[in-house]
Amino acid sequence: MFRNKKVTVSAERPSLITLTRPSSIIAEQFRTIRTNIQFSMVDTELKTLVVTSAAPGAGKSTVSANLAITMAMQGKSVLLVDTDLRKPTVHKTFKLPNKEGLTTLLTEKEAVIKKIAHRMPTEGLYVITSGIIPPNPSELLASNRMSLLIKELEEIFDLIIFDTPPVIAVTDAQVMASKVDGTLFVINKGVADKEMVKKSKELLDMVHANVIGAVFNRVELSPDTYYHYYGE
Ligand SMILES: Nc1ncnc2c1ncn2[C@@H]1O[C@H](COP(=O)(O)OP(=O)(O)OP(=O)(O)O)[C@@H](O)[C@H]1O
Ligand SMILES: [Mg+2]
Repeated sequence: MFRNKKVTVSAERPSLITLTRPSSIIAEQFRTIRTNIQFSMVDTELKTLVVTSAAPGAGKSTVSANLAITMAMQGKSVLLVDTDLRKPTVHKTFKLPNKEGLTTLLTEKEAVIKKIAHRMPTEGLYVITSGIIPPNPSELLASNRMSLLIKELEEIFDLIIFDTPPVIAVTDAQVMASKVDGTLFVINKGVADKEMVKKSKELLDMVHANVIGAVFNRVELSPDTYYHYYGE
């Protein structure tokens, strides 16, 4: 994965660290992840990316949000979509209202992307929150309407990142992974159970997901790491 290069995110308070501390180690690690994604997709265009993990709490939402910011900072137009319709957090992270969002686009005929996507202060960054939590998340995500919406979004943005629920618990991430160009797998270092990671990989393989790499999250910083610390 990632041409055998190990990409890590250290253990610090990282919610939107790429914005708040752009010269921190973590922000630098996100730039490395960005480079690795770009290198791993030299021959194929990557426009849609799912971020998922085996178990809950691995850091999917943190990684998706910071990756979206990091990509936008490079001049791309990037959309982050909250496709975790069970435990959505993107609206909280970016302090956005959530009355309307993805579920509005999927259920209301007149809803238009331009009105639902929030334009963020970071140049090029847009966010679609989950919207009202529906009773049938898997069905909505598996719908034709969702596939059509992804196509429409591809016309508008350079890159679309989908934050999802964990793979093991529900089929949502599997469904989404089957609809996109690439899937990024977040592994909670030290906590992730090897069997669960293996099982998740099998579930993603079943739907022919293109797993482009893994991000090791919450890696403790070694003293050497401070060598890379640029100071703020
Ligand atoms: N590298 C890190 N160091 C320290 N804390 C982290 C790190 N990554 C994430 N966290 C924290 O861990 C918690 C869970 O992270 P996050 O919400 O990103 O995980 P998730 O995989 O999206 O969870 P869920 O499965 O519930 O959607 C958050 O409070 C987040 O701030
Ligand atoms: Mg999450």
